[in-house]
Amino acid sequence: MTQIPTKSQIGIYGLGTMGSALALNMADNGFNVAVTNREASWVADFIHEADQLSGNLRAFESLESFVNGLQTPRVILFMIPSGAPMDAMINRVTPLLSAGDTIIDGGNADFHATRRRAAQLTELDLHFVGMGVSGGESGARFGPSMMVGGTTHSWTQLKPILRAIAAKFDGDPCVDHLGPDGAGHFVKTVHNGIEYADMQAISEIYALLRDVADWPAARIGTLFEGWNEGPLASYLVEISGKILQATDPETGSAMVDVILDQAGQKGTGRWTAIEALRLGQSASAIEAAVGARSWSSEKPARQAGEIMLPAPETAPDATSKTAPKLPDSTDLEQALIAARILGHAQGFRILAQASDHYDWSLDLARIAEIWRAGCIIRSSLLDDLSDALHSDLPHSQLILVPAIRAQLATAIPALRRVIITATTAGIPVPVLSASLAWFDSMRTGRGSANLIQAQRDFFGAHGFARLDGEGSKHHGPWGNSAQQS
Ligand code: 6PG
Repeated sequence: MTQIPTKSQIGIYGLGTMGSALALNMADNGFNVAVTNREASWVADFIHEADQLSGNLRAFESLESFVNGLQTPRVILFMIPSGAPMDAMINRVTPLLSAGDTIIDGGNADFHATRRRAAQLTELDLHFVGMGVSGGESGARFGPSMMVGGTTHSWTQLKPILRAIAAKFDGDPCVDHLGPDGAGHFVKTVHNGIEYADMQAISEIYALLRDVADWPAARIGTLFEGWNEGPLASYLVEISGKILQATDPETGSAMVDVILDQAGQKGTGRWTAIEALRLGQSASAIEAAVGARSWSSEKPARQAGEIMLPAPETAPDATSKTAPKLPDSTDLEQALIAARILGHAQGFRILAQASDHYDWSLDLARIAEIWRAGCIIRSSLLDDLSDALHSDLPHSQLILVPAIRAQLATAIPALRRVIITATTAGIPVPVLSASLAWFDSMRTGRGSANLIQAQRDFFGAHGFARLDGEGSKHHGPWGNSAQQS
């Protein structure tokens, strides 16, 4: 007869969608899990629903009994809303803990807060882990991708459990210890920034097919389904294909056609753009995706603008004789490949910058590897990128790696053609456009910032470097009249 352990190997506090799914995943993998929840009534319901897995689950109604039910040093995973609730929980639980215990925040937390909390717990001889968990409910239940930030001590405690429950790519668990304190939550934030850019780029291609080519949703869905068999193979293209082919049971219309065009956002995409700027970078494709969601929420203004603001003469409508023709589907596919590569390249550049700034020693190739399965941005491209990231990046830029350059050489001409059509038709494609603008910036050896420098020197005597000289404090011949012009 199997011996039921008197103490559980891990505790999970918070039995919402993600917490419940992770608890069941751990129980399924043979771990003994203690569970509890703020609303004690949820606990019994959860155990009842867990059915045959309930032998590996132990339910507790109070925080004290839950903490006492764990093996020491303890490991407690909190799946609760990030922000103030996490701080309140830390204050409640820390008096019950002992030196060497680890508490984990498995939500999408701001990594600055994670760094602060890790420092706070270190003072108490406790360990705080910020863990990004990706893959939604089904990922959490059957194999998420997990990005762990914290101490080596905590990773030693967590490793066997997390490697067992993680998604596997060719047998390799999609989880790793990425660095100290906020590293895991930062990597998850950038994952979400890339997710935003990829979702928006897919939506822009959809908009072109819908509004320029006049394709019904299901036909676009079938095209995406086909793309998912090729270089665009990915979770997001796969689900977009399925979504576009789904029918609204109430009206019989395409499901996507009855959904209000206002996108929500919880903040991680915005944090990525903000952190990029803080680090002296620009994740312009990701920022464009965040902005697109923000503008989407201004529906009444957009509806007014549709009447008040001029459309291009070449905009597609019933009367237009010069309506643009959409490039063929191979061009659209290649345009999406280009945007996907460029969005990821910006994300990895920010990861590298943050790694230097916070002294995290992030292993970029490993990050790409643990994103190959389980997470929302999993795609065949991540397999290519993990290979590329194992090589030296010329000038720290993924887009300069030969294999990635070769993919872009094929994809960029198509992206240009698609953007020309979008511009002619007046269809907004902010991520496709921002991606191409960044690509062109990166292939322009002699840019236009010399004029910016001259302007700065003209009105503020900021000085400039000369192409033909040393130093950065040269001044132009603007004279005293400069300020008065
Ligand atoms: C994941 C997702 C997930 C995120 C949702 C919603 O990796 O599983 O990134 O963590 O919460 O995608 O994010 P938004 O509400 O900001 O779109």
